[in-house]
Amino acid sequence: MTDQSEWTGKVGNVWADEWRRTDRSFGPVTERLLQVAQATPFAQALDIGCGAGEISVDLAKGAPSSRVLGVDISDALLDVARARSSDLPNLRFELADAASWMAGEAEKPDLLVSRHGVMFFAEPGAAFAHIRAQSAAGARLVFSCFRERGENEWARELASVVPSDGDTLPDPDAPGPFAFGRQERVTHLLAQAGWTDIAFEAVDYGMVAGQGGDAVADALSYFQRIGPIARAAAALEPSTKDAMLERLLALLEGHHRDGEVSLPAACWIVTARAPA
Ligand SMILES: C[S@@+](CC[C@H](N)C(=O)[O-])C[C@H]1O[C@@H](n2cnc3c(N)ncnc32)[C@H](O)[C@@H]1O
Repeated sequence: MTDQSEWTGKVGNVWADEWRRTDRSFGPVTERLLQVAQATPFAQALDIGCGAGEISVDLAKGAPSSRVLGVDISDALLDVARARSSDLPNLRFELADAASWMAGEAEKPDLLVSRHGVMFFAEPGAAFAHIRAQSAAGARLVFSCFRERGENEWARELASVVPSDGDTLPDPDAPGPFAFGRQERVTHLLAQAGWTDIAFEAVDYGMVAGQGGDAVADALSYFQRIGPIARAAAALEPSTKDAMLERLLALLEGHHRDGEVSLPAACWIVTARAPA
């Protein structure tokens, strides 16, 4: 499981190197998240766990007279975010843990957005209560997160090529990519934290892992950098690792269509509102 400490170290650094391919993997999620977020004008947006900043950049470009702030705990990712947006005067980035970030009086966000950046809090209930307390009255919260692991074919398929270490199944609620898969849990966390009008939209999409002249090789290298294969590979003997990569290659070839390797993924777009 990826927890917060990993984002400040190796995992964050790899995501910073791989930002083009991680942005690519989110395609339809990005489109829908932005549609929902931009449906109502905003004065001050906060992008929670902004990573390399794609959502922040799009929000800032789409609303030049509004202000956008991206916060993240990874220095390496914020360096990428700043480098790709230096021409946008209404956008800035701050190294901060969203669970303790304090809004200045003039910068209480009326829009809070996150693309897969809110599932890593050690204490999600406390974090969402704190974030609400920093928000403007009536602020809108819009975030994406994976649905449950079992609904995400990409995760099941990748897990099937990793040698079993006999471990029991991970706690589905532990901080990490699938922590907010269960709708009832997220509803409960947000409601307890004082958010209202909580709603869920299911988005099924193809997670693009490889494209171009050798899309399978692209996907093979991508999964050796990011996600469960990369994590498993780091701990395996060379021969076991090679066997895993052979199985991965066969899996990716099975998902190769028209110059693209994409795996079925399932997420929520969650919306909520701070009390007026
Ligand atoms: C899956 S990545 C998503 C990054 C970015 N939103 C994107 O869509 O490319 C999760 C991000 O959340 C950040 N993160 C994790 N815990 C955080 C926290 N407590 N406060 C701020 N950022 C956090 C990580 O550093 C990482 O950039």
